[in-house]
Amino acid sequence: MSNYQWKMSVFIGLIVLYAIYTTVLYFREYKEALPADKLAQTGKIIWQQKNCVACHQLYGLGGHLGPDLTNVYGHKGAPYIKAFLQSGTQVMPNYHLSESEMQALISFLKYTNSTGIADPNTFTQHPYGTISAQ
Ligand code: HEC
Repeated sequence: MSNYQWKMSVFIGLIVLYAIYTTVLYFREYKEALPADKLAQTGKIIWQQKNCVACHQLYGLGGHLGPDLTNVYGHKGAPYIKAFLQSGTQVMPNYHLSESEMQALISFLKYTNSTGIADPNTFTQHPYGTISAQ
């Protein structure tokens, strides 16, 4: 096999592998990490529909107008969250949520609270641009 043929077969081989890999990824069943609790699942959907993440972070990711809400359930509790949802603030809109929607959101925030600690104020910032939870 000449040098040219060898390079061509490696090239074609890589293209074939790429096509197979892409096809496998495309047809693979997508499993989203969902809370086990049905109410929390509904809460997650409401969280997405109302785009709470535009202003709030979960696990330190999201908008920065409002605080990180990952552990708000653990730190402040359900009645506190409900008060915010019921009336909004000067900055946070009042979504006029129904009682069941509020319960679902609270349940979702209870779930996020159980999954880890994310209080960016306590994170250590390293000079090379990363953070760690200690
Ligand atoms: C337009 C921006 C914005 C959006 C959208 C928003 N919030 Fe807020 N939220 C805030 C701000 C800002 C605060 C902090 C209180 C203040 O300054 O008014 C806050 C506070 C809160 C608090 C209290 C947090 C604490 O630690 O004191 C909760 C709970 C909360 N929001 C839940 C939600 C949920 C759930 C949604 C989606 C349904 C949502 N927010 C959508 C801006 C927003």
